[in-house]
Formats: sequence, structure tokens, C-alpha cells
Amino acid sequence: MSQKVLFLEKALGSFMVANAPIPKPGPGQVSIKVISSALNPVDWKIQAFDFGVKYPAIIGVDIAGDVEEIGEGVQGFSKGDKVFCQGTFVSEMGGFQQYALNPAEIVGKIPSNIDYAQASSIPVGFTTAAIGIMSKNGLALNPSFDSNVSFSGKPAFVFGGSTSVGQYALQIFRLLGFSTIITYASARHTDFLKSLGATHVIDRAKVSVDSLAEAMRKITDNSPIEIAFNAVGDPDSRAACLNSLAQGGKLVDVISQTKDEADGKKVLTIHGSPHPAHNREFGRILWKHLPRLVQEGKIIPNRVEKLSNGLAGIDDGLKKMKAHQVSGVKLIAFPQETV
Ligand SMILES: NC(=O)c1ccc[n+]([C@@H]2O[C@H](COP(=O)([O-])OP(=O)(O)OC[C@H]3O[C@@H](n4cnc5c(N)ncnc54)[C@H](OP(=O)(O)O)[C@@H]3O)[C@@H](O)[C@H]2O)c1
Repeated sequence: MSQKVLFLEKALGSFMVANAPIPKPGPGQVSIKVISSALNPVDWKIQAFDFGVKYPAIIGVDIAGDVEEIGEGVQGFSKGDKVFCQGTFVSEMGGFQQYALNPAEIVGKIPSNIDYAQASSIPVGFTTAAIGIMSKNGLALNPSFDSNVSFSGKPAFVFGGSTSVGQYALQIFRLLGFSTIITYASARHTDFLKSLGATHVIDRAKVSVDSLAEAMRKITDNSPIEIAFNAVGDPDSRAACLNSLAQGGKLVDVISQTKDEADGKKVLTIHGSPHPAHNREFGRILWKHLPRLVQEGKIIPNRVEKLSNGLAGIDDGLKKMKAHQVSGVKLIAFPQETV
């Protein structure tokens, strides 16, 4: 049996739709008929900079679909279950194909209040924010998803609240009870970001990164911010976050840079995936709780923009992302629509 896949042919090469065998699940795995697959910046970065994959590579890391086949020892899933999960950069587990494998222990059932496209907007963004804020490999604020944990009275800051990751960071800070949640983003997203938990949106068109620390002090009445999350990750955003932090404060950053400590402030760079051993235990806990949090409306998916042309439509979507033409939405492809 064969399927359609999107191959990244070679290092720095092009994407092309091709036929490939349908992968069979091994012990502990399920195979998933991929209905929707979200695009992430890492997908165009792999094509542009060549890292982390073997060619020809099937990439794509945000998956929603139907359980197709169940591997040995898997319990709790049946053929046809609607599921979502995070893929990884091993071709059989990539999202840019019609059938993908994933370890069942880090797969969740899609809650009834969202559709496939919305479900596929969640895994990478939520996991990255959750590992950074909640897990022991990040700020360790709530590694067990304990619903009694509360940071009431404390402020937190998210640089880039309209990014996919930033939207989930805002919601996690809200879930953890932070009283003041400040973000730096375009003003046109203000109402939406407030609906996700931001209490203050600093307009990035009006306030320069150099003036950000001062703008934050005005909001917090000079009380120092001890926790920041950088969802943009470039050197300017890193510097602005560190400037805004109190002595001894901690910054989670989505991108690592050469220097990870400054002025007694700690920087934690994160690997936003449940697959590697160092994140797997937290990943298992996360996937136990995430479907419920979404069903209860405590975690809301990204807004989605649907791409046409199945797998062939992904290339144009990635070009738009690379050109900074995607603002406050997640691009979603539908592999079964490939002709
Ligand atoms: N470490 C990890 O494991 C990990 C995992 C996932 C993602 N990442 C990285 O995290 C970053 C965000 O990924 P994503 O998928 O969340 O991005 P995204 O949703 O594609 O980001 C697009 C958004 O970025 C905003 N933005 C761009 N520059 C900004 C700035 N200087 N200040 C404020 N907002 C800015 C844009 O805001 P406007 O609407 O104002 O234009 C736009 O809404 C990427 O660099 C990605 O590679 C890392």
C-alpha cells in the first residue's frame, strides 16, 4: 500500500509530492491517517539551514487525524479514534504525509469542541510553552499539572504573545493564576490576546524594544518582573526580556544563543518536544491533561488558516511564514486532499 508524502529531497533542496510506503506501527505505536497538519517555523528553517533530518525527509510536527492501526501493547485507542499529537523529525513520524506513526503514550483524543484543523494547531505551540513554564526542564512551575497551584499576585511577561507559542504561554500563565500577564505584540491582536489571558498588551509598533523595560515598570508600579517567556527568540527580544527582568529573574527562550546567563538572571532555552528522553515523562503527563484542558475551554486552539492543494500547498505556506506574512494564525494543510 502506498501513500502520498511531501519529501524534502535533499539538503537545501525543494519539496516534492511523491509516493511512499505506508508505515506500519511498531510496539507501543499507533499509525494515524493524517487529516490535518499544521506548519511551523522549524519546517522552513530545516529547508533553509539543513539540520536535524535525513534525506529525503518527511517533516511536519503538528498532526491531527484518525487512528488507522494499533501496534503491539497499545491500550486505550481503537481504529477510527480522532487523535492529535506532535510528530518528530523521523520520516515515519512526520506530519507532511497521509499516514504517520507516533508513540501512543504521547497521543491524545481530540476533544469534541474542536475540529481537526484546530487540534493540529495545538501540539507544538502548547508543548513548547508548557515545557518552558511548567516542566522541570523549564521554570518548573507545575510539572504535575496540579490544578491547585496558583501564582496569584505575581506578574509574568510574554515577548511575542501573537506567535503560536506565545498564545499558549499566555494561556498557561492564566491557568497558573498569574494576576498580571503582560505581552509585547501588534495592537491589532489586543482583544484576541486579552481573551487568552493577557492583562496588558504593549504595542510593538509604538514601544521600541529599548523602551520595553520602562513600559513594563509603569504597568507593574515598579514591582520587578521575575518571570519572562520569549516566544520570538531573536537577539533583540532576548536583550529586551533580560533588561525587563528583576535581579535573579528567569527567562524562558525558544531559541538558544551563545550566552545563556546575564547579570545574575537565568536563561532557560527549551526543546519543545515530548519525544526525547529528557522530556518524555513530562510529555506523558502533558498528553494525559491536554485533551481535558481543551475540552474545558481552559486552553483554546490557535486561530487557523486553511491551505488548499493538500501536501502540495505546504511549500507556499512555508514561504509566507519565512517572509513574515503570517500574523496571529496557524497555517493548516490537509494531506488527504493531495491529488
Ligand atoms: N525551542 C523550540 O522547541 C521551539 C518550538 C516551537 C517554536 N520555536 C520557535 O519559536 C518562535 C515562534 O514560533 P511560532 O510558531 O510561535 O511563530 P509564529 O506563530 O509563526 O510567529 C508569527 C508571529 O510572530 C510575531 N512576531 C514576529 N516578530 C515579532 C516581534 N519582534 N515582536 C513581537 N511579535 C513578533 C508576529 O506578530 P505580528 O502579528 O505583530 O506580525 C506573528 O504573529 C520561532 O522562532 C520558532 O522557530 C521554538
